[in-house]
Amino acid sequence: MADLPAPDADAARHSQQLQALLRAEILQAGGFLPFSRFMERCLYAPGLGYYSAGSTKFGAAGDFVTAPELGPLFAGCIAAAVAPVLQQLGPEAGFVEIGGGSGAFAEVALKRLLALDALPARYAILEPSADLRERQRERLGRTLIPPVFELVEWLDGPPEPEWNGVLFANEVIDALPTPRFTLRDGEVFEEHVAVDGEGRFIRQDRPADALLAAAVRHVERYLGTAFPDGYRSELLPHLPYWLQAVMGGLREGAMLFVDYGHPRREYYQPQRDNGTLRAFYRHQVHNDAYLWPGLQDLTASVDFTALAEA
Ligand SMILES: C[S@@+](CC[C@H](N)C(=O)[O-])C[C@H]1O[C@@H](n2cnc3c(N)ncnc32)[C@H](O)[C@@H]1O
Repeated sequence: MADLPAPDADAARHSQQLQALLRAEILQAGGFLPFSRFMERCLYAPGLGYYSAGSTKFGAAGDFVTAPELGPLFAGCIAAAVAPVLQQLGPEAGFVEIGGGSGAFAEVALKRLLALDALPARYAILEPSADLRERQRERLGRTLIPPVFELVEWLDGPPEPEWNGVLFANEVIDALPTPRFTLRDGEVFEEHVAVDGEGRFIRQDRPADALLAAAVRHVERYLGTAFPDGYRSELLPHLPYWLQAVMGGLREGAMLFVDYGHPRREYYQPQRDNGTLRAFYRHQVHNDAYLWPGLQDLTASVDFTALAEA
């Protein structure tokens, strides 16, 4: 990792705090944590995780750039595409954005929907990061006219039991903590994270639980072939449950997920035998997920077939 810019003293201290928390949790759990839990802590541990702490993540000063950060084109196009859906559903239709990032998407989308006379009855943002919520609130309060800002609310849980409207997420599914699996002697193993004698995080493969093993077998059946020994990749067995949770009681409308990924046959190509998980740090991508917990974004491509099945 010699070519990655080293974190400054504050950032290094921040990461050390999270590393201490992770080591304590690993110890308490008996010496290992599923990789998905490790990733969840790295991204969302309160006050310390990558998305929960106060660092700049989006844009030139951060670690990566998402489509809404590049300019108004992306959010403007999405707003134009969903405006007829909202108009057809009528004045009660809502808009739910999952994972609002810096608020850039909401700002442009709401301005465009206003111009198209297609404002939703409310614009709800489901955002687990308290820090990002505050940034979104500050940005939208500053950039939207008051009657439009008043439509915006932040959800503490999935949307109410029954609603009609549009559910939207850009680059959220790739940020869901993912299990990693590998095959050994034909059996499915799940990657766990342990700590070595010097306190470093190391990979430890352990027999997968029934849910992950069944999900891997499901993919093998779909592909018509078994994964070879040593093949390593990612899979989200809980994606259907996550989807059910975030849509809440959506009765009529549209769901739009924008992300990077592949249809299943491309995702699990034989040559992609080390998975798709990668880390973003100051606009550089690498594949050491254990480096500098809390300072880098971790992400895995989306299996579009799994999303369609969910
Ligand atoms: C890569 S950022 C994308 C942000 C924004 N959509 C954009 O395109 O700039 C991922 C976002 O998803 C949020 N997120 C992650 N897991 C989530 C979950 N389970 N439910 C809702 N939001 C989530 C993060 O806090 C963050 O706002």
